[in-house]
Amino acid sequence: MKATLAFDVYGTLIDTHGVIVELEAELGERGMEFSQRWRDKQLEYAFRRGLMGAYVDFGQCTREALEFTDRALRTELSERHKDRLMATYARLPAFPDVPEALAELRRRGHTCVAFSNGTREAVKALLEQAGIVDCFDDIVSVDEIKRFKPDPAVYAHLRTRLEVDASKTWLVSSNPFDAIGARHAGLHAAWVRRSAEAPFDPWGGEPDCTVSDLVELSERLG
Ligand code: 2OP
Repeated sequence: MKATLAFDVYGTLIDTHGVIVELEAELGERGMEFSQRWRDKQLEYAFRRGLMGAYVDFGQCTREALEFTDRALRTELSERHKDRLMATYARLPAFPDVPEALAELRRRGHTCVAFSNGTREAVKALLEQAGIVDCFDDIVSVDEIKRFKPDPAVYAHLRTRLEVDASKTWLVSSNPFDAIGARHAGLHAAWVRRSAEAPFDPWGGEPDCTVSDLVELSERLG
């Protein structure tokens, strides 16, 4: 069955490990701790702002989460170094499985779109520099309705914007919150378990399928 596949970006298509390398160069073994706190706070800011109705560009959530993490860990990063870290976030590589898997999925007739908290402009630039922008039929950003994942409104927007039925729409994400949110909104969800140790949340049901990478996804979806 031909489906519409909506791919999350950070951590699913784009490998954010490059940020850790940059942080470890400055902070040594605290780089990994800093990177995890920063990602968790970035998402927390999107969740809180969504609940408050205080939407801002996801890039601002990323920068403000960087500021918070620097304060919380007392790392005293210079403005220049923080600017460099933000630049690194905008210049990250794609996971190696993406081009082959997306080409195969589209060859089989599936529609493949990037679907992100990031603005259309930021996501387009990120996918372009990663060399994968042409793997997608479209880019859908939550910025179009000024809400954040996992608000049900963003998954409804995805369907109306692409004029697709929920029964033929899959959210593909390495982020359990995204997969649970999409299923709660009536879509199918594939969890890309990029790390074998990554746990899934103990509530909200199981994903429709769990894969270790996008090549496995293309084999599973047919
Ligand atoms: C996204 O790209 C936050 O990873 C999530 O929308």
